[in-house]
Amino acid sequence: MRRKGLATKIFIDGGDPDETRAIKESLGFLDGQTTNPSFVSKNPEAQKKMDRGETFSEPELLEFYKGIVQDISGLIPDGSVSIEVYADENTTAEEMLEQGREMFSWIPNAHIKLPTSHEGIRAAEQAVKEGMRINMTLCFSLPQAAAVYSATRGATRGQVFISPFVGRLDDRGEDGMSFIANLLKLYRKGDGHVMVLAASLRHEGHLMESLHLGADIITAKLETLDEWARKGAPLPGEAYSYDAGDLKPLPYEELDLDADWKSFDLSHELTTQGMEKFTKDWNKLLGK
Ligand code: E4P
Repeated sequence: MRRKGLATKIFIDGGDPDETRAIKESLGFLDGQTTNPSFVSKNPEAQKKMDRGETFSEPELLEFYKGIVQDISGLIPDGSVSIEVYADENTTAEEMLEQGREMFSWIPNAHIKLPTSHEGIRAAEQAVKEGMRINMTLCFSLPQAAAVYSATRGATRGQVFISPFVGRLDDRGEDGMSFIANLLKLYRKGDGHVMVLAASLRHEGHLMESLHLGADIITAKLETLDEWARKGAPLPGEAYSYDAGDLKPLPYEELDLDADWKSFDLSHELTTQGMEKFTKDWNKLLGK
């Protein structure tokens, strides 16, 4: 059962429907799931195939991904399931849209993940006009977030998610939770059409602070959600305070959400690295 007072939606981060089943059981509810190419590569069936020395053809791999999200969708028919397009540095917005349209037809509750890069945001601008639900992934800066807001103006609330990646900022000594706080502050000036999905949460502290800050959605891996569920899914009280340790807080920047999205500096090395890692994991399954 969902605990009274829990306003944030809870998603699981992964690519194995058995995990979806497990967390539904231990938490008693689940609002959605985020998948990505790295999670698909870690799916037990994919692992077994790779261990046998086999690889997928492109149509087989898409069929495999489709099967995974169809299973998940059936387990959370009222939730949202994010499906990520393949996007390397040369993938155009048109190519992302073509994949996105196909993936969006796989299940009735899909959000299509597009990278928060120039081409990803260009694809997002068109995708929302077509009525597609999207999740802008690999977001690491306020200018990127402002651009997503501006490019998708006119979308309905819930149609657009943005995924700031906490753990990957922490990994390089920056306080990822301070980025979530800054992003929520920036978006408070807006109309609320983009929902903030705190992603790359690595432990219960990240989860609790995301609830404390009032993120619209969080996604966390089975282990983190399970640990939280075992404690009775507690909510942060008035006195809750997050200890970021030695991590460096990121500064807030005042940005104009009404500016043309192309006027923002969209570059961030973690976005580029993230796209490289996702495509590498996907290509491994293809034997490339
Ligand atoms: C979710 O949408 C992301 O793909 C995920 O949270 C990434 O987490 P990681 O940084 O632990 O890989």
